[in-house]
Amino acid sequence: MNILTFDSNEKLNEAGANIIAGLVQTQPKAVLGLATGGTPVGIYERLVSDFKRGLFSFSQATSFNLDEYVGLDKKHPQSYYAYMHEHLFHHIDLPAERAHIPNGNAPDPQAECERYDRLIADAGQIDLQLLGIGHNGHIGFNEPAHALIRGTHVVDLAEETLKANARFFDSVDEVPKQAITMGVGTILKAKTILLVVRGADKADIVHRALTGPITTDCPASLLQTHPHLVVLLDKEAAGKLS
Ligand code: F6R
Repeated sequence: MNILTFDSNEKLNEAGANIIAGLVQTQPKAVLGLATGGTPVGIYERLVSDFKRGLFSFSQATSFNLDEYVGLDKKHPQSYYAYMHEHLFHHIDLPAERAHIPNGNAPDPQAECERYDRLIADAGQIDLQLLGIGHNGHIGFNEPAHALIRGTHVVDLAEETLKANARFFDSVDEVPKQAITMGVGTILKAKTILLVVRGADKADIVHRALTGPITTDCPASLLQTHPHLVVLLDKEAAGKLS
């Protein structure tokens, strides 16, 4: 595990963007696993501005997003489809047919999960999986549970997740109660995992995930078993690490 701590958001964004850009420069056909939420926004901004300077291209790359809300139209401003287009896809040359996001509006969600897993399997292996972390230790939307699911599945979002994501909606009642998420088996199969965490409110969960027992009660603790885990933290999120 390689933990890097930054004293400014700007430096953290630069480091995150450089890791992703470096991969597509050396491996143009890279398969990227992408995340949404507040955490990666600055990294995507930096990636877009470097892309616009002509430093690299995504024209041969493929991407798979971690998750999508169930039952939210993709045109809804808070769908992860809308998020990814606003923050990244609209600004870069990644071909639309290779930018994959689970379809949260599929008539048969189970069939959609199976379709998504087949697409990931057909692409080979995810080269770099970008992750944030929930306050409860979720990765993707794999919430704390007795047992975790290997592949893509429909999940009931935890109360804590609904409350945390209410900031993006008018009220907590508007947050969809379910999502389709990649499973932990798929996440852990990525060649490299890039976990990014910001803020003092995540210091406890960062400490628990990276130094505590490996348990399904804290899905992010499974990342300790990954051979190529890179963690980018701001100094607030790193506050409880010695
Ligand atoms: C997003 C995702 C989630 C978030 C996590 C942190 O695609 O899968 O696991 O990474 O909820 O969210 P933020 O970054 O908003 O604190």
